[in-house]
Amino acid sequence: MMKRFAIPMGAAIICGGGLVGCDREEASLSRHEWLQGGVDQRLNTLAEQHGGFSASMREVNERFHNLYWAGQDQNWEFAAYQLEHMLEALEAGLQRRPERAESAQHFLRNVIPDTQESIEARNLSFFNERIKTMVNNCNTCHALENVPWIPVSLPRSRSPLMASIPAAPAENVEE
Ligand code: HEC
Repeated sequence: MMKRFAIPMGAAIICGGGLVGCDREEASLSRHEWLQGGVDQRLNTLAEQHGGFSASMREVNERFHNLYWAGQDQNWEFAAYQLEHMLEALEAGLQRRPERAESAQHFLRNVIPDTQESIEARNLSFFNERIKTMVNNCNTCHALENVPWIPVSLPRSRSPLMASIPAAPAENVEE
């Protein structure tokens, strides 16, 4: 068994080194035949596959839920991490759809730094106050961008990632 496994692995490494006439490399190239046309057209096709603003919003939303629960657990390092990646996801979305940037200015300039401040303060009541402001501002941007029917509210149950991490013991939680 070991030997049968070891031979194809070795071949894959040689292909990676750029030797011609490699069956595996040819097989993987032919899988990309759906990318047709010149370089610009192929890049456009890839960009379309990458998704627009809604793809970024799905990540922003997921990070928002993780941020909320990391805060409830008073795992402030994890909360800071989720906020930083939420910002990156929003910025990536705005890079793809710059026409949305104006509506996001207050969120970028005020809401994210204010939430950051409450994380650095490591204070749950302060954090919960700021996270409510964040929710209101998610909704403000949705109104400005004509998607008021995508309502954001405080999470009620732990997100998939945070559900796999035990909640902080109740005695650690203020309020
Ligand atoms: C630029 C302003 C803006 C901000 C700030 C914003 N959103 Fe959005 N959001 C949008 C727009 C626009 C869409 C619809 C995207 C589309 O039509 O492609 C959207 C879509 C969504 C969706 C639906 C995604 C899907 O396709 O399933 C969710 C969920 C969402 N936002 C959550 C949030 C949360 C949570 C926040 C705050 C943490 C937030 N949004 C902040 C503009 C914003």
